[in-house]
Amino acid sequence: MDFVPLRITTVKAEQSLTFDLYIYFKDQYLCYASKGNTLSDDKLQKLINQKVAAFFIPSKQVDNVPIFLDNALKEAVYSEGIGMEDRVDLVEGVAATSIEHMSDNPTEENFSMTRKAATGLREVIRKNPHALKRLFGKKGHESDLIIKHSLNVCALATRLAEHLKLPEDVIEDLATAALIHDIGLTKLPEEDIECFEKDKDVLTPDEKLRYGQHTKISAEILSEKPFITKRIEELILYHEEDLSGMGPQKMIKLSPEQECLSLCNAFDKRLVSTNQSPSEIYQSFQIDYIGRYNLELIQRFELVLKEEGLL
Ligand SMILES: [Fe+2]
Ligand SMILES: [Fe+2]
Repeated sequence: MDFVPLRITTVKAEQSLTFDLYIYFKDQYLCYASKGNTLSDDKLQKLINQKVAAFFIPSKQVDNVPIFLDNALKEAVYSEGIGMEDRVDLVEGVAATSIEHMSDNPTEENFSMTRKAATGLREVIRKNPHALKRLFGKKGHESDLIIKHSLNVCALATRLAEHLKLPEDVIEDLATAALIHDIGLTKLPEEDIECFEKDKDVLTPDEKLRYGQHTKISAEILSEKPFITKRIEELILYHEEDLSGMGPQKMIKLSPEQECLSLCNAFDKRLVSTNQSPSEIYQSFQIDYIGRYNLELIQRFELVLKEEGLL
């Protein structure tokens, strides 16, 4: 039987299940709660305490997942009875699940869910003053760093784009592209994936070349799909470029949204791969990256970090 992942934070206790929930334990899938039943708070909490990050759903029941994720998003954005932390957990779970589904199976349906998740994440952050800080404060599992990074970049890049007053349709594409910009990374050989946790300034020329391939792979996964716009494809292809011409595609000019994505990507890559705080990272970042991004953009970025309580 084939399975697809579903983040545990999207599932609520005492909710009637429209699919079977499995967990992956000791190299096998075990049914933890079945369709039509509910999951007790105790049973759910037990998994959270054991740091289980995801359930698995049989692929043949996957048709019920989009409605389920849609409802979780609506609850995160509109429900009146829940706190900011639960909203962040829900939207994070939906966004992470969407990224994983896009990475395994880049269909129009999974793309549409990713787009909705990106909008949901923006909404939760816009309506809840401490939500971005909460998102950044959460420690991801080691195996989850790329997904955590993608969510961080989506949150930061869209805040920065709003500051720059970029058009709404551009910000929507930017938010969606940010969530899936690194889906090509997991397709690299293991030793090249490890470069993700190193700052680009410490990579050897050979590592840089091999690691840089993931931008093309990410874009290729999506190219020629009728539902992917050229803007999204180029945002993804150029996300490791800066104005120095030293990126994988040797670009020296970027559109404002491409520069936003690239800057937030470079900043967050440093952040997730060290134990330093955002303000410590920013100290070195602003020195190292002068000349690689427009000064005004770096200053705007500093304002966003201050506004969101990260500096
Ligand atoms: Fe990347
Ligand atoms: Fe990235």
